[in-house]
Amino acid sequence: MPTGAQAAAAYPVRPRLSPTTTSFSVTIILVLVFSSSLVAAQENASDALLKFKSSLANADPALANWGSSTSPCSGDHANWVGVLCFNGYVWGLQLENMNLKGQIDINSLVPLRFLRTLSFMNNNFEGVMPDWRKLGALKSLYLSNNQFSGQIPNDAFKGMNSLKKIYMANNKFTGAIPSSLESPKLIELRLENNQFTGSIPAISSENLKVLNVSNNQLEGPIPAALLKMDPSSFSGA
Ligand SMILES: *[C@@H]1O[C@H](CO)[C@@H](O)[C@H](O)[C@H]1NC(C)=O
Ligand SMILES: *[C@@H]1O[C@H](CO)[C@@H](O)[C@H](O)[C@H]1NC(C)=O
Repeated sequence: MPTGAQAAAAYPVRPRLSPTTTSFSVTIILVLVFSSSLVAAQENASDALLKFKSSLANADPALANWGSSTSPCSGDHANWVGVLCFNGYVWGLQLENMNLKGQIDINSLVPLRFLRTLSFMNNNFEGVMPDWRKLGALKSLYLSNNQFSGQIPNDAFKGMNSLKKIYMANNKFTGAIPSSLESPKLIELRLENNQFTGSIPAISSENLKVLNVSNNQLEGPIPAALLKMDPSSFSGA
């Protein structure tokens, strides 16, 4: 009496590829091919940053070393000016005092999946603010001291629940302060020296340490939840 293994060896059964099995394998192969090309695309920080740079005006000389043969990050060390690196990944851009203007091409930054902080402070960016929601994992956003203007849609920060620090001071923003700024994790919100109108939103974050809405055209009472703030936060509001 042959054992099971011997029987299997004696009567090899070729697995038949049913149409379902075949299309299933094809699907798996396609998924593998697409996901590996996605990973490659996501990890090409050089590509993403060079595309981003090309949308800026006045990028050189400040960003002249971008695009050199090195990659932006070697471990925690940044090879490119203004890039913040962790473990070989770009986690931030700190492009301050560089006389930059032009467009901020958010789409080009989307592949940088570890991007958590962006600073464009002290530059000459103007016009309406870009749509940051495409970078939904941002923890901090520093835009102070530019010429951004116009109204900010009420849902501009909707779903950006990781935001802790938002600096938008010293711009030319108008209209209401967007209610989507009421992120539960917010620690610092700087909106001073703009042209915001309307009332001060009741930001309920327990973590809020700094709020500054002074020197705007706001009116109405200071929400009770914000009375603990330094009075200079509201001066000239
Ligand atoms: C990444 O992008 C750079 C610049 O666009 C390109 O030269 C390089 O071949 C790309 N690398 C990979 C692995 O795709
Ligand atoms: C708020 O901003 C105004 C104007 O820049 C400044 O005078 C004031 O000290 C600031 N207050 C706080 C609490 O940051």
